[in-house]
Amino acid sequence: MGDNVIPLADLRYAAELPRIPAELVMPSGLLSDRLGRPLRDLRISVTDRCNFRCSYCMPKEVFDRDYRFLPQSSLLSFEEITRVARVFVAHGVRKLRLTGGEPLLRKNLETLVAMLAALRTPEGDELDLTLTTNASLLERKAQALADAGLKRITVSLDALDDAVFRRMNDVDFPVADVLRGIDAALAAGLGPVKVNMVVKRGTNDHEIVPMARYFRDRHGPRVALRFIEYMDVGSTNGWRMDEVLPSAQVLERLSQAFPLEPLEPAQPGETAQRWRYSDGAGEIGVISSVTQAFCRDCNRARLSTEGKLFLCLFATRGHDLRALLRGVQASQQPWTDAQIATAIGLIWSERADRYSELRSAEAPALERGTRRVEMHYIGG
Ligand code: GTP
Ligand code: 5AD
Ligand code: SF4
Ligand code: SF4
Repeated sequence: MGDNVIPLADLRYAAELPRIPAELVMPSGLLSDRLGRPLRDLRISVTDRCNFRCSYCMPKEVFDRDYRFLPQSSLLSFEEITRVARVFVAHGVRKLRLTGGEPLLRKNLETLVAMLAALRTPEGDELDLTLTTNASLLERKAQALADAGLKRITVSLDALDDAVFRRMNDVDFPVADVLRGIDAALAAGLGPVKVNMVVKRGTNDHEIVPMARYFRDRHGPRVALRFIEYMDVGSTNGWRMDEVLPSAQVLERLSQAFPLEPLEPAQPGETAQRWRYSDGAGEIGVISSVTQAFCRDCNRARLSTEGKLFLCLFATRGHDLRALLRGVQASQQPWTDAQIATAIGLIWSERADRYSELRSAEAPALERGTRRVEMHYIGG
């Protein structure tokens, strides 16, 4: 076994056992954290596995044949995920995003999609139900996902040039399959599709304008391309500031090719700043978590594959919701929905995370023995 083998998968990230106060508080949908931020968005990771090895997320040297992914028994079941999601909806969540790893690797994912699509807000409305994928399996699965009730989809794609793309996914996966996946998603009614490109200076920044041109010309307003600043998430990707291309430079390069006009935010707390092509050919976005942090309105919570709740992408500790769902010890009764809702309410009300804002000041010191969560484990 290599040095990078983690012996006890479930203990790889620190997690606290949530407190359940004696007095139960019913969710009001009006939850707010210590910085006054509501809870609106739950991102659910359904697998920690991926068939790609993007160097900024799952570098091959770390995620090799010896790496132990979570065992099946650790994963939340579809019933458990749906139960947690229902409680979050009662607390005010309006958007559910399935992520991974690569979510389409989870068997029978359409079944989970159908279960989540059946959830309703307290007002009786449907939720915004979406999924982030590398699209390697999308051509085959788009129609079934749409039929199950998925509303829209986001595809991660870092380059159009086949050689650059194969190098970035590091498993020699051809770009043509991803492009066909996007076409299939649009044909299945999952549009408008968002395409996320992580920009690394010196690796794929020369692909910015070709990517914009391709999606403008081929799909117009049916695809929104977003350029993401490469982030120091996790602790395995060897992040360096000189590999970040600030969004201001992305916009400069784009506007030399295509005139752009700013758009107003569609929703509070959005990750992307949106721009439209002046000729009406659609929109693009820039996600600038390094040069312009957007923690102030961050309304996102993340649920890991084995049921730990994380309050920030850069968190080092989670909250073990699975222990509540299954009973902390074998002898114990699992908790009721009202108890779990109370525990989640308390966790959110104590939240003060704003890592990206602090990063620019000074990186917060990590506690001894803790590691930041990895993106493949918690999703984007
Ligand atoms: P839409 O509702 O479809 O617009 O999605 P979104 O932009 O909220 O989510 P998406 O998962 O597409 O986010 C795009 C990228 O933004 C992710 O891959 C991350 O790189 C980054 N990102 C998303 N959420 C956060 C966040 O809370 N904090 C930081 N620092 N980055 C984030
Ligand atoms: N910086 C920015 N975005 C990242 N993603 C993964 N790792 C990083 C990183 N270091 C994004 C991918 C994908 C989503 C799952 O997370 O682009 O869209
Ligand atoms: Fe790449 Fe997404 Fe897989 Fe990470 S989860 S290795 S970013 S495809
Ligand atoms: Fe939210 Fe943390 Fe991202 Fe800030 S760094 S926007 S608090 S997830």
